[in-house]
Amino acid sequence: MKPNIVVLISGSGSNLQAIIDACKAEQIDATITGVISNKADAYGLTRAANAGIANRVLSHKDYETREAYDLALIDAIDAYNPDVIVLAGFMRILTPAFVDKFSGKLLNIHPSLLPKYQGLHTHQRAIDAGDTVHGVSVHFVTEELDGGPVILQAKVPVFPEDTAEDLAMRVHEQEHRIYPLVVKWFCQGRLKMVENQALLDNQALPASGYASEE
Ligand code: GAR
Repeated sequence: MKPNIVVLISGSGSNLQAIIDACKAEQIDATITGVISNKADAYGLTRAANAGIANRVLSHKDYETREAYDLALIDAIDAYNPDVIVLAGFMRILTPAFVDKFSGKLLNIHPSLLPKYQGLHTHQRAIDAGDTVHGVSVHFVTEELDGGPVILQAKVPVFPEDTAEDLAMRVHEQEHRIYPLVVKWFCQGRLKMVENQALLDNQALPASGYASEE
């Protein structure tokens, strides 16, 4: 049986599209069984529908507390019988109960070279800091926001005239390369999280992930 992937989104879903394409091309040997968005107008829902993938909106506005939303989200995810949950631009802070429930099966992509620039506005923050190198990280999700063990990073240059939009576009190109690769590793059973450490082929990955230069 192929592993099942559930993807959570809030917006455009270009990373979702990269993973859909990689599944279609059989680069990832898995089935995306469902896509869930917390926003009804997320374009990623259209991408899912176009690919014939079950999808639904679960709006956080319908729940009074973060805890209540996350419990409903757990049920919605479970209905798609996931082996891995891929957060692809899902712009919600997750409760400990949620993270605990799916521990070791939750992947996220964050547009910075973690541990730099956790949280929002990462591209502008890299520009404001005068960084000459910026990038993106794929990591396991733990209770620490944007703090779980890094699996893979990709770097991009920052040029003096860059706007945050220029940089976001450059980072996006890398996102679409590295996220499908990490999802593939996971679906092949090569990638695990053990005691807060990412392992690839049973080897502990360095703090900045596979292909790190350190
Ligand atoms: C991506 O750039 C992703 O790294 C970021 O949201 C964007 C979603 O784009 N995620 C975060 O900021 C998570 N903290 P997409 O909807 O086109 O895939």
